[in-house]
Amino acid sequence: MDNRPIGFLDSGVGGLTVVRELMRQLPHEEVIYIGDSARAPYGPRPADQIREYTWQLVQFLLTKNVKMIVLACNTATAVVWEEIKEKLDIPVLGVILPGASAAIKASQHGTIGIIGTPMTIQSDIYRQKIERLLPEVEVTSLSCPKFVPLVESNELSSSITKKVVYESLMPLKGRVDTLVLGCTHYPLLKPIIQNVMGPTVKLIDSGAECVRDISVLLNYFEINHSREGELPQHRFFTTANAKSFAEIAETWLNKEINVEHVTL
Ligand code: DGL
Repeated sequence: MDNRPIGFLDSGVGGLTVVRELMRQLPHEEVIYIGDSARAPYGPRPADQIREYTWQLVQFLLTKNVKMIVLACNTATAVVWEEIKEKLDIPVLGVILPGASAAIKASQHGTIGIIGTPMTIQSDIYRQKIERLLPEVEVTSLSCPKFVPLVESNELSSSITKKVVYESLMPLKGRVDTLVLGCTHYPLLKPIIQNVMGPTVKLIDSGAECVRDISVLLNYFEINHSREGELPQHRFFTTANAKSFAEIAETWLNKEINVEHVTL
């Protein structure tokens, strides 16, 4: 048993999609979350900068005495997960492998689409992981750089957002039976994405899939929360405006939360 919190990081609000699923599946675990909204989006940045920023977020979480770190960000996972995992002596999880395995499981005809930030798509990591598991699938990747700024500004269902999602996803329409939301911000746009792709296309939420792996690791290392005592006291930190972060977070998590501004 280990009652320390689990640390989550993202470039902004996207990692909340992972936290929401954690709260549903593992309600006794305590969350420390840091979102770097002041510097989002990470996706168009060079790899060295993404590495530097992600390490800063990791260092911040380590000061909060976390028992595990989740890179709730595909872009950070693509660039620096292996390195962080090697260097820390607590478990470190990314979101890409769970998303890749779930896509293979869901796909009926072996036609899988991946959408993500420019860095995630450029890294080609989803294709590599999927083809290593199942070489005969057809993977089509597409970068959607306009999605994250819309989510960060809480434009989740405006007509502009609907237009951008429609235009961006056209190249994939009718070509895939499964679509991996390879950016943790994208599940916030899920109803629009589903509407554009059509009801038969399976959407894979890589962040939500990763919660199953969190659960497995907590069991394996015997570091689950003891479930005794008070309810978990989750804490959320943002490098940008706490009020704007709280607006998105409270709607998405459907509860009041404590958000603090932090300078890294
Ligand atoms: N939510 C992140 C991801 O999963 C990063 C988005 C961004 O900052 O570009 O890729």
